[in-house]
Amino acid sequence: MSNIILCVNIDHIATLRQARGGAEPNVIEGAKICEENGAGGITIHLREDRRHIQDKDVLALKEIVKGKYNLEMALSDDVIEIAKKVKPDQITLVPEKREELTTEGGLDVEQNFHNIKKLINIFHDNGVIVSLFIEPDKRIVELSKETGADFIEIHTGAYCDAVEPDMLKKEIDRIYEAANYGLELGIRINAGHGLNYLNINPVLKTKGLEELNIGHSIISRSIFVGLAEAVREMIRLINDNQ
Ligand code: PXP
Repeated sequence: MSNIILCVNIDHIATLRQARGGAEPNVIEGAKICEENGAGGITIHLREDRRHIQDKDVLALKEIVKGKYNLEMALSDDVIEIAKKVKPDQITLVPEKREELTTEGGLDVEQNFHNIKKLINIFHDNGVIVSLFIEPDKRIVELSKETGADFIEIHTGAYCDAVEPDMLKKEIDRIYEAANYGLELGIRINAGHGLNYLNINPVLKTKGLEELNIGHSIISRSIFVGLAEAVREMIRLINDNQ
């Protein structure tokens, strides 16, 4: 059995729904299918521009998610208020730019150190664990630990974008080193962004990895094979290759 859990990021079910502004496809049904087929939890990102997940989804999912409920969010006041009300199991702090297609870089922990630290205290008082989405860089791992965060989520985007073998090696080694250093410091390890059925294997070898957050590739594959099968295929890869 796997120690690494898969939290399926279901934002793009909401992206499709928002394209017509109606009720379909239903994100609640999507979350249930993911969990029924082995996902250890559900991840959503409540973006400032509300381009996919809406406030009502955050509340409704709280009622039905059985595993880990992970809310990704920027350091944005109105989203912070919603998160305090809903109290998901975990919040993951991410940087956010309005014009970006998806989350681009990791969190600037140095620049936002005091805000992040303050927010972590507030969420800890509310029983919510906090993860920081960061680039695999030792200095940022160290700063993350100093904020009091429970987890770092290592940004796997640069590894996923790498094509040449030497770049691939360099980027996967950065992930391994950041994770090893995090473990040494006593912070727990998640990872995600850009992972798919073809590039996931080396990431599964990351020491201490507890949770993967994967969205786009699973929801894309679900168009052809259905959501249940798309989730099961990813779980099989995780279970067979770690
Ligand atoms: N982790 C974080 C912090 C993210 O912002 C995202 C994208 O919302 C993901 C994981 C999932 O990335 P992808 O959709 O590329 O699998």
